[in-house]
Amino acid sequence: IWSVDKESDSLTGHPQIIQASLWIKNNEVIAFPTETVYGLGGNAESDEAIEKIFAAKGRPSDNPLIVHISSLNQLEGLAAHIPKRAQMLMDAFWPGPLTLVLPKGDNVSKRVTAGLSTVGIRMPDHPVALELISESGLPLAAPSANISGRPSPTTAQHVYEDLKGRIAGILDGGPTGVGVESTVVDCTSEKLTILRPGGVTKEQLEEVAGEIIMDPGLVSPDTSVPKSPGMKYTHYAPNAPLYLVDGTPAFIQQLVDKEKAKGKKTGVLSCDEHTHLYQADTVLPCGSRDALESVAHHLYDALRAFNESEAEIIFSEVFPKKGVGTAIMNRLEKSAGGKIIKE
Ligand code: TXA
Ligand code: MG
Repeated sequence: IWSVDKESDSLTGHPQIIQASLWIKNNEVIAFPTETVYGLGGNAESDEAIEKIFAAKGRPSDNPLIVHISSLNQLEGLAAHIPKRAQMLMDAFWPGPLTLVLPKGDNVSKRVTAGLSTVGIRMPDHPVALELISESGLPLAAPSANISGRPSPTTAQHVYEDLKGRIAGILDGGPTGVGVESTVVDCTSEKLTILRPGGVTKEQLEEVAGEIIMDPGLVSPDTSVPKSPGMKYTHYAPNAPLYLVDGTPAFIQQLVDKEKAKGKKTGVLSCDEHTHLYQADTVLPCGSRDALESVAHHLYDALRAFNESEAEIIFSEVFPKKGVGTAIMNRLEKSAGGKIIKE
């Protein structure tokens, strides 16, 4: 772990970043901070580096990686062309938590895009990430730096827990800011389509580029019908099963009490305002309901913290699906693997 003070006036020539960029040029993989979550970066032009990323994470090879750039000049060769609305979104939100899916250029390996004819590209808004990319002189393919299936890392410590011994190093730039991943927008379909809600909200995107649709696969399933287990691919998950509960704190407490009566250790993921209302073995706060940005910032750390607790079953509050709340609920639904209880 190499620590880098992201507040320092200039990171140019920073010894740790130079060290990391040497590893990148040698087709090794390095974890680095972005404004959303930590990424696991490798030379996007090297199949050898890409193989190492997939191997370190245990990621299924059919899931494409995002290519990170530090300057618009790098787009040449990465994207075949830039649709007009994509250009508008870049102008407005880069550097920032927005990934644009564009027609793939010739310089992008099929291993990065998992065989797709499109490529996801973003310019992260983090001085350490930008300096690492420009010092390497290479676009960096980078997924989140967690073991596949676990919550994404928002600190260097999270990366270390998951990937120690599996990667060349970690650049530690402190906790990330946004806390959930970038918004992924497909710019190759007839209508701009959000494939993954994230740090830039639908409302913000629409102000710049007009109507944007949500990918139909994102619209929540009918939660009143229990889904058959195994049908769902669980993601962002703590070790203990997590149930998302659409109900009052009093209702959630009843669920906790039932489990306690069975002798189970219980956990509750609660907004800051409600923690005092719960009597469970572990009650973890995840930010203020009045400032959903703070929930996004704390969410993954709280999900990971349950693994250090004795909780054998976790109940989580729900949040309004507006603004960044859409991304928060998308991640919580995935971490619950479809286990949703309605009052
Ligand atoms: O904030 C972020 O986006 C972080 C930081 C490190 O930049 N990265 C990240 O990468 O979350 P990852 O690999 O964990 O998630 C990338 C998502 C996946 O859901 C993937 O399927 C989608 O982006 N994606 C990448 N390329 C795509 C493409 N060509 N078409 C459709 N989806 C794509
Ligand atoms: Mg990920």
